[in-house]
Formats: sequence, structure tokens, C-alpha cells
Amino acid sequence: MSGKVVVHRSMSLDGFIAGPDHEMDWIFEHTAPWEGAEEAMAATGAMLSGRHTYDVGQRSRRPETSAADGGAWSGVEFVLTHQARTEHDDPAAVFLSGDVAQAVAIGLESAGGRNLEVLGTDITVQGLARGLVDEIYVDVLPVPLGAGVPLYATEGMTPVHLEPVDAASSGTVTSLRFRVRR
Ligand SMILES: NC(=O)c1ccc[n+]([C@@H]2O[C@H](COP(=O)([O-])OP(=O)(O)OC[C@H]3O[C@@H](n4cnc5c(N)ncnc54)[C@H](OP(=O)(O)O)[C@@H]3O)[C@@H](O)[C@H]2O)c1
Repeated sequence: MSGKVVVHRSMSLDGFIAGPDHEMDWIFEHTAPWEGAEEAMAATGAMLSGRHTYDVGQRSRRPETSAADGGAWSGVEFVLTHQARTEHDDPAAVFLSGDVAQAVAIGLESAGGRNLEVLGTDITVQGLARGLVDEIYVDVLPVPLGAGVPLYATEGMTPVHLEPVDAASSGTVTSLRFRVRR
């Protein structure tokens, strides 16, 4: 049985998931260890990152804020890039290029029945446009950033219809969960 394609994000009050220079510190200042992280981590079989997300992770050397990542996660991280890179650059990652649907299929197969976590706005927008994403989880933080990487870029996109599934608050964080309507 195939797992789901899921998107977990921490988001500023005004809709950004990273600052203008991909800053992420504001997230760590506003989130406490998330009680659902262990469960989400266990449900995640593989990750598919855009190259920007991968680079930020490499630079910061601290766990992504994705709920799927709690530091002890093991599985394959696939990275979409047009650059010529190989596993020699980073044995922990598999670099892919080309169609996002093909990358999602590879990631799902690697996940072995668990979920594929998609990281990065660019590839998430491509995945949503192609009807490849099943669920979106957003942790809304009580901080406006003013500018940065948006959760979702709408330019040239057809609307995506979401069905609210759950909403909950814990501390200063409001967690929203949506199912993508097909
Ligand atoms: N707040 C959160 O919870 C959260 C979670 C995840 C990520 N983030 C942040 O989101 C930001 C990254 O988002 P982003 O939208 O800027 O970038 P992204 O989606 O991570 O990466 C975009 C890059 O992926 C590559 N790419 C995309 N589609 C491709 C395709 N079909 N084939 C080959 N390569 C492809 C391209 O890289 P090349 O230029 O190499 O070709 C493109 O420039 C980072 O700051 C990250 O830290 C935040």
C-alpha cells in the first residue's frame, strides 16, 4: 500500500515559511518541541526537498522544522535540482532532476508504504499543481515577518481546494490540517 504525500510547515502569521534570506531562527524561537513529532517521524518513510531547502539544512546543520524531522529520523532524502550533483557530494542524499511527478513516485516507493514529506515552496507548488499532494499541515506562529519565502506562490497557478480536517492550539502555536480535494 502506498503512503501519503504530505506537507508540514511552520508559517509566520503573514504566510511566510522562511525569511528573505531563508532565515529560520524565528521558527525555533516560537516553537517548543512538538508532541506529535515522534509520531509524524515514524509515519515518514522518505523526504523530497527542493535544492534551496536542502542547502538551508546543510548550512544551519540543525533539524528542519518539519514535523517529520526530529533529528533521529532515518530514511532517504531526495533532493530535486537541475545542478549536476551526485551522492559523492553528500552520501546521505539522493539527487534527482526532472519531472516532479516522477520524483514523487520514486520517493513514495522508497518510503515503503509510509509517507513522503515534501519540503520547499517551489516543489510543493509544483506538486499541488499536479495533484500529487494529499495533506497539508501548517503550524501558525504568532510572528509577522513582512517578507520571505511564501507558504504558497499563486502566480500562474490554478486554485487548490482544501478541506479543513483539524485545528488545535498548543502554547503559542495554532496547528491546522487540510486534505487536498481532488
Ligand atoms: N517553515 C518550514 O516549515 C519550512 C519547511 C521546509 C522548507 N522551508 C524553507 O523554504 C525555503 C525553500 O523553499 P523554496 O521555494 O525557496 O525552494 P525549494 O522548493 O526548496 O527549492 C527550489 C529549487 O529546487 C530545484 N527544483 C525545483 N523543481 C525542480 C525540478 N522539477 N527539477 C529539478 N530541480 C528542481 C531548483 O534547484 P536548482 O536551482 O538547483 O535547479 C529550485 O531552485 C527554505 O528557506 C527552507 O528553509 C521552511
